[in-house]
Amino acid sequence: MRQNLQRADNSLLSYPIREVVIIGKKLEKLGDFSMIWENIGDPVSAGETVPKWMHDVVQEQVASDKSFAYTETQGAIAAREYVLEHFSDKKKCTVEDILFFNGLGEAINKVMNNLPKETRVLVPSPTYPSHATAESMHAGCSFISYSLDPSNDWEPDVDEIENKIKYNDHVVAILVINPNNPTGSVYKKETLEKIVAIAKKYDCFVIFDEIYHHMVFDGVKTTLLHEIIGDVPGISMKGISKDIPWPGSRCGWIEVYNAEKDHDFKAFIEIILLNKMLEVCSTTLPQIVLPHLYDHPEYPAYLQSRINKYQKRADEACEFFSQIPQVRVNKPKGVFYLVVELLDCPRSTLDSVNKNVRLNLDELEKTPQCLNNNTDFQFSYELMGSEGVCVVPLSGFGSTINGFRMTLLQENDELFTETLIKIGRGIEHYYQ
Ligand SMILES: Cc1ncc(COP(=O)(O)O)c(C=O)c1O
Repeated sequence: MRQNLQRADNSLLSYPIREVVIIGKKLEKLGDFSMIWENIGDPVSAGETVPKWMHDVVQEQVASDKSFAYTETQGAIAAREYVLEHFSDKKKCTVEDILFFNGLGEAINKVMNNLPKETRVLVPSPTYPSHATAESMHAGCSFISYSLDPSNDWEPDVDEIENKIKYNDHVVAILVINPNNPTGSVYKKETLEKIVAIAKKYDCFVIFDEIYHHMVFDGVKTTLLHEIIGDVPGISMKGISKDIPWPGSRCGWIEVYNAEKDHDFKAFIEIILLNKMLEVCSTTLPQIVLPHLYDHPEYPAYLQSRINKYQKRADEACEFFSQIPQVRVNKPKGVFYLVVELLDCPRSTLDSVNKNVRLNLDELEKTPQCLNNNTDFQFSYELMGSEGVCVVPLSGFGSTINGFRMTLLQENDELFTETLIKIGRGIEHYYQ
């Protein structure tokens, strides 16, 4: 090419949840075994059957010509009205404040990329990688973060948030993921109120990723942004990938709060909308289907049965890992993941299934991802090559803490128990 086609900041691009799959697929082939995929939060690909009533609802809507047309750029009005009525608050939001995207992934990118380069969003660590990567790509350097504290149920370190904002006036927003991926925590209302108060004090806005707002275990209550936002400018992010669950629909949205209260924030939101106009609109079908799915008489029981299943998995996994001295777990309060911390994690190896797998692992372990301060990438690769289980290293979620995230999605009881045993054996041998 007559010019270099590589952007200087390409090294910041990363999405470990899927990157491990490329490595895992290669190891499967070299070792001639079937991997147990514990990396991705897709209930359907993990084996959950989509109920017949859902297929029927989609078929009914696809039969309408309307589902073949564009929608307004903000999204189908019926979908926005539904969201406003059921997930937001009419006193604080209108249909004009709701904007649909092709998946929340797109919303994350649009929000981050429309900010001026010099402004920063403070993201949690660990975090869902799309947020951190979008933030660093927009800024052209590494993301800046605040810690979630494993010794305090993975709650955000509020003092750290305040300090990082106080001493860096490039920070314009705080990102909160609640209920949280990857940790499974559901934050206390007081913590969230403190974060909103910090945003107010330093003239910042808040972004609350609430895509898991329905996925909370029995007895746990999640506080939504609109309940505590007051007059602070803010964005709530939600979608249908996890709770319907229809991740392949690529359907998510933002609810904007208090845009009228801040001139700069309002102008920023208008630019996001203008930017979305370049794509005309998001895919119509899932938006048209959305109210019919959430409103279906079978939906509440279906959602509850899924939550019960994840809670049962969480109980079993926490009980299992609590017997292993080299790890620490916090029992999730929701979502469908578990983070297992690897305490004083060594840089070690496991017996690989064959020589080709070993040679491949030896090469992988010379890469920068394995040679940085964290040792959990190496653990994850070794676990794939010996026990045939694919988990995501915690440092892939922008964390300095060693560990991994597994899902609680496995449909088959025996296979879930077997997966735990394989991981447990991998940990035991890795530390020997
Ligand atoms: C916290 C969080 N935000 C956003 C997303 C992206 O969701 P979507 O499928 O709507 O792009 C995910 C997906 O796993 C997620 O876990």
